[in-house]
Amino acid sequence: MDPTVPPATDKNGTMTEPPAHGSVVLREFTEADVRLALELGEDPYIPLIGSLPAHPTRRQAEEWVRRQQSGRAEGRGYPFVIVADGAAVGTIGLWLRKLSEGIGILGYSISPERRRRGYATDALKAITEFAWTVSGVERIELYIEPWNRGSLRAAENAGFRCEGLLPAHHEIGGVLKDMLLYVSP
Ligand SMILES: CC(C)(COP(=O)(O)OP(=O)(O)OC[C@H]1O[C@@H](n2cnc3c(N)ncnc32)[C@H](O)[C@@H]1OP(=O)(O)O)[C@@H](O)C(=O)NCCC(=O)NCCS
Repeated sequence: MDPTVPPATDKNGTMTEPPAHGSVVLREFTEADVRLALELGEDPYIPLIGSLPAHPTRRQAEEWVRRQQSGRAEGRGYPFVIVADGAAVGTIGLWLRKLSEGIGILGYSISPERRRRGYATDALKAITEFAWTVSGVERIELYIEPWNRGSLRAAENAGFRCEGLLPAHHEIGGVLKDMLLYVSP
């Protein structure tokens, strides 16, 4: 493993258990998650906010899964699959591009047919607990478009508070979009 990747440890310095909360468990990506990638790629919004191509071919989905699998080793962050009732229902990641400022950034998506069951809320709670075990993380941020009610509610349900609106902050679909900044207390 790349030595720049901070270890996820508990207070005794040992690796933590897979993050879990309520109905979900988070696990690392496997090759079988190509199916999940194909599902997520059919959503109109998910490909705009990440590196998964819209309507991916099987090969594009496989490449995306491999990028998720290498994220940890390359020090980009901790990508997880969200599992509920034994099925892969979405993804959530702790990203480390602002780690030099003590900041971890969360991103997440739930398969269209699995929404409104509390999975995003539970996954946010699980990864937040995990994020505090990653050395160097002192603040956890979420960036959400103001119209994205499901994401705002999930963030609020998971205890995040809104710090304000950042005008023209993220390029999404080729357009600079205002983003609400949410922070874990
Ligand atoms: C946003 C998203 C992750 C929410 O996932 P989810 O598993 O459906 O969220 P939850 O079930 O935890 O719902 C949280 C709350 O939001 C509500 N909610 C969910 N989707 C909603 C929607 N489209 N409109 C209004 N409310 C919604 C739920 O009813 C729940 O309400 P509550 O506070 O009364 O309990 C999912 O819609 C998604 O993947 N969207 C596309 C990708 C995306 O937007 N990612 C986040 C980028 S910041």
